[in-house]
Amino acid sequence: MAQVLLKREENIAIIRVNRPEALNALSRSIIDEMDELVEEVMKDKEIRCLILHSEKNFAAGADIKKMVECNEEEARAFLFSPTYNKIADLSIPVIAAIEGYALGGGMELAMTADIRIAGEGAKMGFPEITLGIMPGAGGTIRVPRIIGEARAKELIFTGDVITAQKALSMGLVNRVAEDDHVLDEAMKLAKKLAKRAPIAMAMAKKTIKAGQEEQSHNKGIEIEAANWAKLFTTQDQKEGMRAFLEKRKPDFQNK
Ligand code: HXC
Repeated sequence: MAQVLLKREENIAIIRVNRPEALNALSRSIIDEMDELVEEVMKDKEIRCLILHSEKNFAAGADIKKMVECNEEEARAFLFSPTYNKIADLSIPVIAAIEGYALGGGMELAMTADIRIAGEGAKMGFPEITLGIMPGAGGTIRVPRIIGEARAKELIFTGDVITAQKALSMGLVNRVAEDDHVLDEAMKLAKKLAKRAPIAMAMAKKTIKAGQEEQSHNKGIEIEAANWAKLFTTQDQKEGMRAFLEKRKPDFQNK
């Protein structure tokens, strides 16, 4: 059974993670499957808009079971940024339709989209710090660029999981929709964008990105990847992730 699905509705594509038993937690193999589907979307010149959407839960982050015993080198190999950058760099507009949990690497996936629509009951955040790590899939670069440095630091430093209304007030999402209508809202917007001039759309997207990049994004991603993987040499990373899997509170020793 495929863990990631690509659906087409006329000239709109939907990419969907399909691992409901783990709240769509993202493993290396899921990201590899997603990468192939993103390549398909890139090649298909008929597609005018991509929606990222998963049923019930957008994604509860990267798979902690797969990361817990990683060393630094394995942590680097686990990283999702090549695929996430591919999504962010698509010339077509990308909409994230967020239901349920969008946490850690899941929320970082949503941050690759141009526009985010969240359901009223969605819960979002970057809880990595509670596991003894930090965001490692573009979050340390995209989040401050999108919502500003101070707000990004508050979210990343506290690891707080916030409501859709709070996310809206912070600019983390563009809109909030009724839970049952998140995908409909995303579809309605996608259909509108699909009618706009595609070359001008692509140029606008590329130009906005260029304007936002005072320091090169790729340089930022490189620094993030190295520092993220370095955290896997700490005992606090092992303690944080083991505590989650053993369903207890972590006891961080600053080691
Ligand atoms: C692996 C996960 C998971 C995850 C949930 N599950 N999130 N497995 N990795 N990120 C699994 C649980 O172990 C459990 O499996 C099942 O999904 C249901 O989850 P519960 O915890 O029982 O559900 P609930 O009590 O409703 O709590 C939901 C939750 C909680 C608040 C979302 O699951 C949670 O805190 N998850 C972790 C969120 C997180 O820290 N994400 C960031 C990960 S780090 P079993 O087998 O017990 O039924 C990250 C770094 C990215 O994303 C860097 C780039 C690579």
